[in-house]
Parts: sequence; structure tokens; C-alpha cells
Amino acid sequence: RTLVLGDGPLVETVRAEVAQACARYDGTVAAPGDEADLVLALTTATPLPPAAQALLDEPADAASGAATGAASGTASGAASGAASGAVGGLGDEGYVLARLGGVTVVLADAPAGLLYGLFHVVRLGEQAFGADRPARAHRPAMRRRMLDHWDNIDVHPVMGQVERGYSGGSIFWRDGAAAGDLTRVRAYARLLAATGVNAISVNNVNVHATEAHLLTDRLGDVAAIADAVRPYGIRVHLSVNFASPIALGGLATADPLDEDVRAWWAATTERVYATIPDFGGYVVKADSEGQPGPFAYGRTHADGANLLAGVLAPYGGVVHWRAFVYNHRQDWRDRSTDRARAAFDHFAPLDGQFHDNAIVQVKHGPLDFQTREPVSPVIAAMPATRLAVELQVTQEYTGQQRHVCYLAPMWREVLGFRPWGQDGPDVAALATGGQAVSRSLADGGRPADGGGLADGGGLVAVSNVGDDRYWTGHPLAQANLYAFGRLAWVPGLDPTALLDEWIGLTFAAGPDREALGRTLHEMMDGSWRTYERYTAPLGVGFMVRPGHHYGPDVDGYEYTPWGTYHFADRDGVGVDRTRATGTGYTGQYPQPWSEVYESLDTCPDELLLFFHHVPYGHVLQSGSTVIQHIYDTHFAGAEQAAQTRLRWEKAEGLVDPALWARVKERLDEQVRSAEEWRDQVNAYFFRKSGVPDAHGRRIH
Ligand code: GCU
Repeated sequence: RTLVLGDGPLVETVRAEVAQACARYDGTVAAPGDEADLVLALTTATPLPPAAQALLDEPADAASGAATGAASGTASGAASGAASGAVGGLGDEGYVLARLGGVTVVLADAPAGLLYGLFHVVRLGEQAFGADRPARAHRPAMRRRMLDHWDNIDVHPVMGQVERGYSGGSIFWRDGAAAGDLTRVRAYARLLAATGVNAISVNNVNVHATEAHLLTDRLGDVAAIADAVRPYGIRVHLSVNFASPIALGGLATADPLDEDVRAWWAATTERVYATIPDFGGYVVKADSEGQPGPFAYGRTHADGANLLAGVLAPYGGVVHWRAFVYNHRQDWRDRSTDRARAAFDHFAPLDGQFHDNAIVQVKHGPLDFQTREPVSPVIAAMPATRLAVELQVTQEYTGQQRHVCYLAPMWREVLGFRPWGQDGPDVAALATGGQAVSRSLADGGRPADGGGLADGGGLVAVSNVGDDRYWTGHPLAQANLYAFGRLAWVPGLDPTALLDEWIGLTFAAGPDREALGRTLHEMMDGSWRTYERYTAPLGVGFMVRPGHHYGPDVDGYEYTPWGTYHFADRDGVGVDRTRATGTGYTGQYPQPWSEVYESLDTCPDELLLFFHHVPYGHVLQSGSTVIQHIYDTHFAGAEQAAQTRLRWEKAEGLVDPALWARVKERLDEQVRSAEEWRDQVNAYFFRKSGVPDAHGRRIH
């Protein structure tokens, strides 16, 4: 017996969800005044049933909920985004959950909170109706929890429709136009709301000619998507081309300081908001990999971002301005240019110049979503700028949804990284509390205390969803989508617990759920490290086939303009990024990391070749030599991939046959590919170094 109290479109969504669940599980939708086991109510609803009223009347003590993140500088440190306390200060999306005298109560100040509270009850399952539980306030750590779609309207002959998409075509666009049937988009919105995501950008950051028109004459298509996702609390953003005033407006320039350019953007943005009043804002990739930007006019990225921030500000919109700016036409002979330095070199000097609604969106690592990279130094370098951290849920460099690779452990390491050492805030706190946390740094001193919830840029990720029957191509890649949303809400969640949560919710039914759950846990829990073992070693990155980025090609990028080299020769391998003898990149980090990474004695093994060029006989912290480590991990990684497949083969019959077959087909490819990686990487380094494997295994 479930009672929903309140008004508004999102409350109607909650009502519809409850009605659907009651129909499916034999429940009853209660009317006001009826007895109920579950009450979902807005705090403004009257009269509230006694259990809900009691909760509301409790004195508010430490009711600030997840505001703890910014205040303590450790959003990741908290086990959850919750704090005990009564109702108060829940904000737009927060809620209180309690079970009192046999009634489970969710109270929220605003409708979105009720929706998130409902999904929390769903996550708890039967536990939600067990023993009494004290009231806990839950609020998202990040205000904006966003997925970027790299979807195109047109289908590219090589890339397909979704750039770096491995799950079929786009759910938004079909046959060169907007998808007519938005059932799938609505279902997607529901899926995202259940994870906690509240914003999407609906087209590729590389804005091609057709897609540029989404801003103007094709805006109706964007509005239709916004209508479909709005009932689930999701706002729509759009990637725009910086040269739109030329391409769409017929102007001679896109100079951000030109008055006509500004007027064009202002008028265009006014029309956007007239059509989509809750439009989220623009996403911009400028002066990056061939996209136009302010450099053409001798302007800075702050000039460019502020132009768009200025026209969005009257409507409460934001611009996400990506910091992924580097020279992709580098001369490989030139050892002084270091692509890893680029984002910092371009952006750090601009700190303090960006408008408040300009969010600088920084990839989590300095290069490009590799399996292993250090955390980008930009994240600690712009205390007076709102920064969003960008992750990649789609597995471009991590097996392209043909390999099992559960990424939450990597993201957790990123979010938990403390740029100023143990006493300072972590990356999650910087994305959460943004300026408040890092301003205290700018005020001299160590950033121990941010003082209050500020509006950080939040967490953004590139989506892995397409029109595939399982949403993500590899059914197990759904776990990455789920984990991203949950971590954006509570950055401190334990990735292993999160994995089990996803398994439990996804494979909830069936008599064999426990055996199946164990199998999935064993297959997925360490899968990122397994993938790391059989691909590029010790943080050096890449070694993938140029273009599509799948499978091994050790020298594939070595003599290209892309700036992604490993410099292997007969004596050694790795990139010298030290201040002493290399590119000086280590100097972009504050203490202690600038020292830790600089020194061979302290640099962590897993990043050694990212920071240093060393001989093959160099002894790692682990005690092994670099060359022996390469052999050992590649044999072990391929072997683990084979074990993963074996586990799944034993699980035949425990799960829907079509799903089993899909995963099996992917595992066959993973095993094949892992062996290919093993053999190419091992053969390459054996041939370069001439050093035999200490264990005498077969190297080709
Ligand atoms: C990677 C990826 C590109 C993408 C780019 C980006 O380089 O391979 O397809 O456009 O990242 O993040 O903009």
C-alpha cells in the first residue's frame, strides 16, 4: 500500500511508477487517509500521514545532508552522501528516508527528490520494509551529473553513427533525422534517473555540418528529446560549433569579441530558451582536433567561453567548455613538445577569468581516457574556476564493449586522488565544492576546509548507450553506466559494493541468482586490472590500432602527429616527463606529487613509463624488472581473460539464453584479442631488448 502526496509533473512520474509497480507486484495505490506501508510525500503536502508528520516535526540537527563534501573537503571520504538528521535543507533533489512504526517514509522538498527517493526504495528492495530505520537525509554530492552523447544524426562511413559508440546506432537520431518514436528515449531517461544522472548532451562534441543545425532550424528535434526526458528530471544540453555564426548565421567571423557575433549568439540562445525553457546549456570542443575556436582570432579560451556564458546567463544556462586542447599536428621528431602538458599550459594561466556559469570540463587524465593515466594536473590548478571532471563510460580504450572492463575502480581512484597529499581535498571534493574548496587554497594555506557547499562543475562522462537491445552492446557494460551515475551522486561509494548492487538489481529474479551473482562478481570485479595487464604496460598508454583504437599495434602511433609515443628502443622504454631531464610535466603538480612522480624511487610502478624513460632492466618497486613485468603481466592477463570466459561457460543455464550467448560471443573475442595483445607486446619487447623471459615461456 503506497501513498504518493504532492503535485507537479515529476510527482506524476512517481505516481505512474508506483501504479506500474503495484500492478506488477500485486500492490495497492493508497488514497489520502488510507493506511500505507510506503509514503512518498512532498513536505508541502497537507495533511501528511502521522509517520510523515512525525518525521517533519523532528528537530533538525545535522540536517545538512551531503553538504559534508565541500565542508570537509572529502566528498569521497564519506561513505555516502547522507548524514543523519531530520528534514531541512534538502534542496531540489534531496530527500529523507526513514522507517518509523512500520511505515517507510520518503519526504522531499521538491518533486525530483521524491523521484530519487523512490529509486532508493527500489534499490533497497525488501530491506526497505524490514526493521525501523532512522531518518537519513540524502543529497547529491554533485549538482550536475551529466552524460555526453557523441551521437551524430548522420552515419559516418568509418566511425558509424555514434563516435566511439559500441552499442549500435543512436537512440536519438535515425535515418538522418530525429527518431520518430521516443519510447526508447523515455526508457533511457528512466534508466538514468534510477542511477542519479540529471543532464544529457545529445550530440557529438565534434559538431559536423548537419548536427550544427540542431541549434537553429533543427531545434525542434532537441525540444522533442527534452520533452521525453523532462519527466525524469533530466535536462538537455547541446554541443555547438564555435563557428556557428559563420556556418549558420552568414557572418564573416566568429570572433568572440565581435559585437555582431555576440548579437547572433544572444538572439539564437533566446530562441533556444523560447523553445526549451529548461534547456541546460552548451557544450564546446574548441581549438581541438580540428574544431574551430577562439585561437583563430587571437583570443583566449576564456574569451570564447565567456561569450557563450554571457548569452546563457539570463536563462540560468551553463557552458561546458572542454579543456581537451592540444596540438594534434605535432612533429614526432620534436622531443620538447609534450601533449600531456597541453591542457594545463593552455588553461591554468586563465584561472579566474571565466564567468561563473562557464564550467571548464577536464578529462580525468592529461592524455585521453587511457586504461591508466595520472590524474590531470589541471584539476588542482584552477582554484578560481568551476571545473567539471570528465570520464569515459564508453570503452574507447578499454575494450570497446567487447571486453569485460568494469571501470568504477578506476574512477574511484580518480575521485579519491588528493592533489595536495593526504591532508588536502580529493578530486571529488573539487568537482563538488569547486571554488569553495580550492579558493581556500588560493588564500594561501592548504585546502583543508572549504566551508560550505559551493557549486562545483560536477561530473560528466561520455555515454556508452546506443540502440542495441542490451543498451550497451556488452550486457555487462551496463554496470559502468550504473556506477557512473551512482558515483556522481555519492563519490565515496565502494566500487565493489556498487558492482554487487548492480548485479543484484539487474539479475534480481530467478532461483540461481546467488550462483549467478558470484560468477558475475568474479568476472567483473578485477576486470579493469586484467585489461590493464594485457595491454600497454606501466602507464605508457596507447599501443592501439590508429583510428578505431581497438586491438594492439605497439608502434601504431609512434611516428604520427598525435603526440602519443612510448619511445621504445633497444635499451629502454617510456616518456621522460621529469623536470630534471624531460618535458617538465611533473612540475604541473603541486607537492607532494611533483616530487613523488619526479623521482624513480617514489614513482608508482603503474605510472612508471608515463613519467620516466628507463632501461629494461630497471627494477620496479615490486622487485621485478620492467621487461620481466611486461612478460609476466601479459601472460597473466591473457590467462585471466580465459578464466573469465570459463566462469561464464559454467553459468550457462543460469541466465536468459540470449543474454548468455551475447556475453559468450563477446568473451570469445576478448580471449582472442587478449592473446593477440599478449603476443604482440611480448614479441615486440623481446625483439627490441633481446632479454629472454625468465620463465622460458613462448614468445614469438
Ligand atoms: C578522443 C577520441 C575522439 C574524441 C576526442 C574528444 O580523442 O578518440 O573520438 O573526439 O577524444 O574527447 O574530443
